[in-house]
Amino acid sequence: MTTVPDEASDATFFTLDSVTAELMEVDAVFRACMNWNYGHRDSRVWSLYEKNKVSQWNATTDIDWDHDVRFGAELSEENGAKLASFVVGDDSPVPRELLTDFRWEYQAWMCSQFLHGEQGALVTTARLVETVPDIDAKTYAASQVADEARHVEAFARYVDEKLGVVYPINPGLRTLLHDLLSESRWDIVYLGMQVVVEGLAITALRLASSSFGDPVIRQITKMVAQDEARHIAFGVTALNGMYADVTAAELREREDFLLEAIRLMSRRFMLREIWERMDLDVERGLRFARHNPMMAAYRQMLFQQIIHVLRQLGMLSDKVKELLLDENLVRPEIMQLS
Ligand SMILES: [Fe+2]
Ligand SMILES: [Fe+2]
Repeated sequence: MTTVPDEASDATFFTLDSVTAELMEVDAVFRACMNWNYGHRDSRVWSLYEKNKVSQWNATTDIDWDHDVRFGAELSEENGAKLASFVVGDDSPVPRELLTDFRWEYQAWMCSQFLHGEQGALVTTARLVETVPDIDAKTYAASQVADEARHVEAFARYVDEKLGVVYPINPGLRTLLHDLLSESRWDIVYLGMQVVVEGLAITALRLASSSFGDPVIRQITKMVAQDEARHIAFGVTALNGMYADVTAAELREREDFLLEAIRLMSRRFMLREIWERMDLDVERGLRFARHNPMMAAYRQMLFQQIIHVLRQLGMLSDKVKELLLDENLVRPEIMQLS
């Protein structure tokens, strides 16, 4: 697994054109397979596939794109109060007069990371189509790829047409996606994407759909979150029982992967890129993001879904629990219940 410097940032900002022009290329060696046993279409994965087929939506026609969104405009009392309310307080690095600017930057940062994460889901799930042995899992993964393409379409259009600001991919997310694309073991791709990345995303999307400042992004995040719930169920179902009979060495490799993935995702929410772009005191911003109780509670909320799934899969080991506690990603009383 590759690593990045702690909370590193390239701090380069792009238009959408230049973001898409910059490639992240990853060399990979993996085993693709075809399966001549076409199954019985009565599995849990197949029923998720049936749900996917009838839950497709069209980002062009099912989103109301007509709503006027003006980046930087004053937000209404209701939306302004909800969005990024965690930066209001004595320890906040954001001066009161920059609060509206911060809220828009935060929304742009979140939407940019959603966008990059969606592309990660698109490409890694396409890999699963080739590598998973079961035909029903291949079939479901192909339908998830279509979902992810639509998610990329919706977020790309939103940041391009409505915000006009695209943040580069967060270094922690970039490293995790790089690792997943070079990964040859398909179950680890599930752990990284369907459990960790999508587990974080679903809570972040649900929170965004009730707090972001305009109806376009609220509609997008709500519809994407509905799809993500099925994708997570696919990962849980595909991995169900998988780790009961593996060797201690194989189990340790999965645990090591999870430890690194959790570390990378924990650093993702330090908001360094925003502090830098707004020319605020970066050290103060990082300190605030790490220690402010509302920021910590936000991260704990984001990690709830991952913890729930890891427990279901039997992968919530002592080391994983320890790391989650050390990084303050879970409240001790909740961990003791497991
Ligand atoms: Fe997605
Ligand atoms: Fe997804």
